[in-house]
Amino acid sequence: MIGIFDSGYGGLTVFKPIIELLPEYDYIYLGDSARAPYGGRSGEVIKKFSEEAVEFLFKHGANLIIFACNTASSLALRHVQEKYLKGPNERERKILGVLIPVAEEAVKTTKNGHIGVIGTKATIQSKVYETEIHKLKPHIKVFQQACPLLVPFIEENWHKKPEANSILKKYLLPLKSTHIDTLIPGCTHYPLMIGQIEKYMGKKTKILHSGEITAGKLKEYLERHPEIDSKLAKNKNRTFFTTDNPRRFKEFTEQHFGMKIKMPAQIELG
Ligand code: DGL
Repeated sequence: MIGIFDSGYGGLTVFKPIIELLPEYDYIYLGDSARAPYGGRSGEVIKKFSEEAVEFLFKHGANLIIFACNTASSLALRHVQEKYLKGPNERERKILGVLIPVAEEAVKTTKNGHIGVIGTKATIQSKVYETEIHKLKPHIKVFQQACPLLVPFIEENWHKKPEANSILKKYLLPLKSTHIDTLIPGCTHYPLMIGQIEKYMGKKTKILHSGEITAGKLKEYLERHPEIDSKLAKNKNRTFFTTDNPRRFKEFTEQHFGMKIKMPAQIELG
């Protein structure tokens, strides 16, 4: 089974393109909505929450976990890979994130070597996108901007309102003068504001679609690793777990993604 982990609902922006591209697989989605947002939390706490999520997903039958959450990918992915994939489990299980596929795509996309990254405070402070981009091409200039107020606006369904737009513009303004030609919306929620981001940044800046990029890379990964692929069930089952109100989760999914899902099960982590 493929496990998808996010701090809450936002990971559906990654889940949706994945199931569209790879519909035959069984999926288990875990959104830790009760403890979201992760974006303002410390690295230690994000690692602890991520460990609990990984243990839950492995226990419930996932053999491949995707960290859809940028914040958890930035702060905890390496940690959980080291903790859970060493030794006898190494061949049986995998944990992948969104960050490396998107960083690779950004490096491929930029023509002028100026890349922008927006994300939660934790993601931006970790500088992990910058690190990954520089591993591929050290001379690229990376301009980063934390946008902590966007997630609450989106969660409240206020993101199309003028207030949200003016906050977005305030965040993007410093990036405009850097002449970036590629922008990474490094947060699960930002695809829900992609139209506004594209409009403000203009045609000269390519805005990457993290969910679609991750889905494409996952497909390639499974083709390259038949030993993993052969262990994944393919019965089109989809199960959702949340640590908060399941009804709210279902409503959010239907409202923002037009996806009809079974009522998620409410669980406790930790
Ligand atoms: N899922 C988080 C991310 O992609 C955004 C929401 C949060 O801060 O928990 O960074």
